[in-house]
Amino acid sequence: MKQPQSPVLSRIVVLVGLMGAGKTTVGRSLAKELGVRFRDSDDEIAKAAGCSIPDIFELHGEAIFRDLEQRVLIRLLEQKKPYILATGGGAFMNAGVREAIRELGVAVWLKADLDVLLERVSRRGTRPLLETGDKRAILERLMEERYPVYAEAEITINSAAGAREKVMEDIIRVLRQKGYVT
Ligand code: S3P
Repeated sequence: MKQPQSPVLSRIVVLVGLMGAGKTTVGRSLAKELGVRFRDSDDEIAKAAGCSIPDIFELHGEAIFRDLEQRVLIRLLEQKKPYILATGGGAFMNAGVREAIRELGVAVWLKADLDVLLERVSRRGTRPLLETGDKRAILERLMEERYPVYAEAEITINSAAGAREKVMEDIIRVLRQKGYVT
Protein backbone atom coordinates (compact mmCIF):
# COMPACT_ATOMS: atom_id res chain seq x y z
CA MET A 1 0.00 0.00 0.00
CA LYS A 2 1.23 3.50 -0.81
CA GLN A 3 2.29 5.48 2.29
CA PRO A 4 0.87 9.02 2.53
CA GLN A 5 3.61 11.55 1.83
CA SER A 6 4.57 13.86 4.68
CA PRO A 7 4.31 17.54 3.83
CA VAL A 8 7.51 19.32 2.80
CA LEU A 9 8.07 22.92 3.87
CA SER A 10 10.39 24.94 1.64
CA ARG A 11 10.77 28.19 3.60
CA ILE A 12 10.94 29.43 7.20
CA VAL A 13 7.40 30.43 8.20
CA VAL A 14 7.54 33.58 10.32
CA LEU A 15 4.47 34.29 12.43
CA VAL A 16 3.91 37.98 13.11
CA GLY A 17 1.16 39.93 14.87
CA LEU A 18 0.22 41.59 18.12
CA MET A 19 0.62 40.16 21.60
CA GLY A 20 -2.18 37.65 22.15
CA ALA A 21 -2.65 36.85 18.45
CA GLY A 22 -1.69 33.21 19.08
CA LYS A 23 1.76 33.15 17.42
CA THR A 24 3.27 30.74 19.94
CA THR A 25 0.32 28.37 20.40
CA VAL A 26 -0.54 28.21 16.70
CA GLY A 27 3.16 28.02 15.81
CA ARG A 28 3.68 24.95 17.99
CA SER A 29 0.72 23.11 16.43
CA LEU A 30 1.79 24.11 12.95
CA ALA A 31 5.32 22.81 13.49
CA LYS A 32 3.98 19.52 14.84
CA GLU A 33 1.60 19.11 11.91
CA LEU A 34 4.33 19.82 9.35
CA GLY A 35 6.95 17.76 11.18
CA VAL A 36 9.40 20.66 11.55
CA ARG A 37 11.03 22.53 14.42
CA PHE A 38 9.39 25.35 16.30
CA ARG A 39 11.27 28.33 17.69
CA ASP A 40 10.14 31.45 19.48
CA SER A 41 12.25 34.58 19.05
CA ASP A 42 11.47 35.82 22.59
CA ASP A 43 12.79 32.55 24.05
CA GLU A 44 15.95 32.87 21.98
CA ILE A 45 16.41 36.50 23.07
CA ALA A 46 16.01 35.51 26.74
CA LYS A 47 18.57 32.72 26.22
CA ALA A 48 21.04 35.08 24.53
CA ALA A 49 20.63 37.69 27.28
CA GLY A 50 20.59 35.19 30.12
CA CYS A 51 17.46 36.79 31.62
CA SER A 52 13.73 37.11 30.99
CA ILE A 53 12.10 39.62 28.60
CA PRO A 54 10.59 41.67 31.48
CA ASP A 55 14.06 41.79 33.08
CA ILE A 56 15.68 42.99 29.84
CA PHE A 57 13.10 45.80 29.61
CA GLU A 58 13.55 46.71 33.26
CA LEU A 59 17.33 46.49 33.49
CA HIS A 60 18.36 47.70 30.03
CA GLY A 61 15.32 49.39 28.43
CA GLU A 62 13.35 48.79 25.25
CA ALA A 63 16.04 50.11 22.86
CA ILE A 64 18.52 47.45 23.97
CA PHE A 65 15.79 44.81 23.70
CA ARG A 66 15.02 45.88 20.09
CA ASP A 67 18.67 45.74 19.17
CA LEU A 68 19.02 42.25 20.58
CA GLU A 69 15.74 41.23 18.94
CA GLN A 70 17.01 42.27 15.50
CA ARG A 71 20.29 40.40 15.90
CA VAL A 72 18.64 37.23 17.18
CA LEU A 73 16.05 37.29 14.40
CA ILE A 74 18.59 37.69 11.62
CA ARG A 75 20.48 34.71 13.06
CA LEU A 76 17.29 32.66 13.27
CA LEU A 77 16.44 33.51 9.66
CA GLU A 78 19.82 32.33 8.45
CA GLN A 79 19.07 28.71 9.41
CA LYS A 80 19.09 26.51 6.34
CA LYS A 81 16.40 24.04 7.31
CA PRO A 82 12.83 25.44 7.10
CA TYR A 83 10.86 25.60 10.36
CA ILE A 84 8.23 27.67 12.19
CA LEU A 85 9.37 30.87 13.86
CA ALA A 86 7.09 32.84 16.20
CA THR A 87 8.21 36.45 16.68
CA GLY A 88 7.51 39.01 19.41
CA GLY A 89 4.84 41.55 18.44
CA GLY A 90 7.30 44.39 17.77
CA ALA A 91 9.77 42.45 15.63
CA PHE A 92 8.08 43.03 12.26
CA MET A 93 8.05 46.80 12.92
CA ASN A 94 11.79 46.82 12.25
CA ALA A 95 12.44 47.49 8.53
CA GLY A 96 15.66 45.44 8.56
CA VAL A 97 13.83 42.45 10.04
CA ARG A 98 11.03 42.78 7.46
CA GLU A 99 13.59 42.83 4.68
CA ALA A 100 15.34 39.71 6.03
CA ILE A 101 12.00 37.90 6.34
CA ARG A 102 11.07 38.79 2.76
CA GLU A 103 14.38 37.41 1.58
CA LEU A 104 14.68 34.30 3.74
CA GLY A 105 11.20 33.35 4.93
CA VAL A 106 7.50 33.91 4.46
CA ALA A 107 5.65 36.22 6.84
CA VAL A 108 2.23 35.15 8.10
CA TRP A 109 0.26 37.80 9.99
CA LEU A 110 -2.11 36.38 12.58
CA LYS A 111 -4.75 39.09 12.66
CA ALA A 112 -7.11 39.24 15.62
CA ASP A 113 -9.80 41.55 17.00
CA LEU A 114 -9.18 43.72 20.03
CA ASP A 115 -11.48 41.66 22.28
CA VAL A 116 -9.72 38.41 21.36
CA LEU A 117 -6.29 39.94 22.00
CA LEU A 118 -7.41 41.45 25.26
CA GLU A 119 -8.88 38.19 26.51
CA ARG A 120 -5.66 36.31 25.69
CA VAL A 121 -3.20 38.86 27.13
CA SER A 122 -5.18 39.17 30.34
CA ARG A 123 -4.16 35.63 31.31
CA ARG A 124 -0.48 36.53 31.82
CA GLY A 125 1.29 39.56 33.25
CA THR A 126 4.60 38.96 31.50
CA ARG A 127 4.42 41.61 28.79
CA PRO A 128 6.24 44.80 29.82
CA LEU A 129 4.52 47.01 27.24
CA LEU A 130 1.12 46.15 28.70
CA GLU A 131 2.08 46.76 32.30
CA THR A 132 2.35 50.53 31.92
CA GLY A 133 -1.36 51.38 31.76
CA ASP A 134 -4.77 50.26 30.58
CA LYS A 135 -4.32 47.14 28.44
CA ARG A 136 -7.25 47.90 26.11
CA ALA A 137 -6.02 51.43 25.40
CA ILE A 138 -2.44 50.23 24.83
CA LEU A 139 -3.54 47.46 22.48
CA GLU A 140 -5.78 49.89 20.59
CA ARG A 141 -2.86 52.26 20.06
CA LEU A 142 -0.58 49.41 18.98
CA MET A 143 -3.23 48.20 16.50
CA GLU A 144 -3.37 51.65 14.94
CA GLU A 145 0.41 51.89 14.71
CA ARG A 146 1.18 48.36 13.69
CA TYR A 147 -1.65 46.96 11.60
CA PRO A 148 -0.65 48.95 8.48
CA VAL A 149 2.86 47.48 8.80
CA TYR A 150 1.74 43.92 9.62
CA ALA A 151 -0.35 44.19 6.43
CA GLU A 152 2.93 44.00 4.48
CA ALA A 153 3.16 40.30 5.44
CA GLU A 154 2.80 38.03 2.41
CA ILE A 155 -0.03 36.08 4.07
CA THR A 156 -2.77 37.29 6.43
CA ILE A 157 -4.80 34.81 8.47
CA ASN A 158 -7.69 35.65 10.72
CA SER A 159 -6.96 34.39 14.24
CA ALA A 160 -10.32 34.15 15.98
CA ALA A 161 -11.15 33.17 19.55
CA GLY A 162 -10.64 29.54 20.54
CA ALA A 163 -9.87 28.30 17.04
CA ARG A 164 -6.24 27.22 17.08
CA GLU A 165 -6.88 24.14 14.87
CA LYS A 166 -8.81 26.18 12.33
CA VAL A 167 -6.11 28.88 12.21
CA MET A 168 -3.47 26.21 11.70
CA GLU A 169 -5.45 24.59 8.88
CA ASP A 170 -6.00 27.96 7.22
CA ILE A 171 -2.25 28.66 7.29
CA ILE A 172 -1.39 25.26 5.79
CA ARG A 173 -4.00 25.69 3.05
CA VAL A 174 -2.54 29.05 1.98
CA LEU A 175 1.06 27.77 2.26
CA ARG A 176 0.08 24.92 -0.08
CA GLN A 177 -1.64 27.30 -2.52
CA LYS A 178 1.52 29.38 -2.67
CA GLY A 179 3.75 26.36 -3.08
CA TYR A 180 5.60 26.69 0.25
CA VAL A 181 4.20 23.34 1.38
CA THR A 182 4.17 20.46 -1.09
C1 S3P B 1 6.35 42.88 22.35
C2 S3P B 1 5.78 41.61 22.32
C3 S3P B 1 6.26 40.50 23.16
C4 S3P B 1 7.74 40.70 23.51
C5 S3P B 1 7.97 42.04 24.11
C6 S3P B 1 7.53 43.19 23.18
C7 S3P B 1 5.78 43.94 21.46
O1 S3P B 1 6.09 39.27 22.48
O2 S3P B 1 8.55 40.54 22.37
O3 S3P B 1 7.27 42.08 25.33
O4 S3P B 1 6.46 44.94 21.22
O5 S3P B 1 4.64 43.75 20.97
P1 S3P B 1 4.65 38.57 22.20
O6 S3P B 1 4.04 39.23 21.01
O7 S3P B 1 5.01 37.15 21.93
O8 S3P B 1 3.85 38.72 23.44
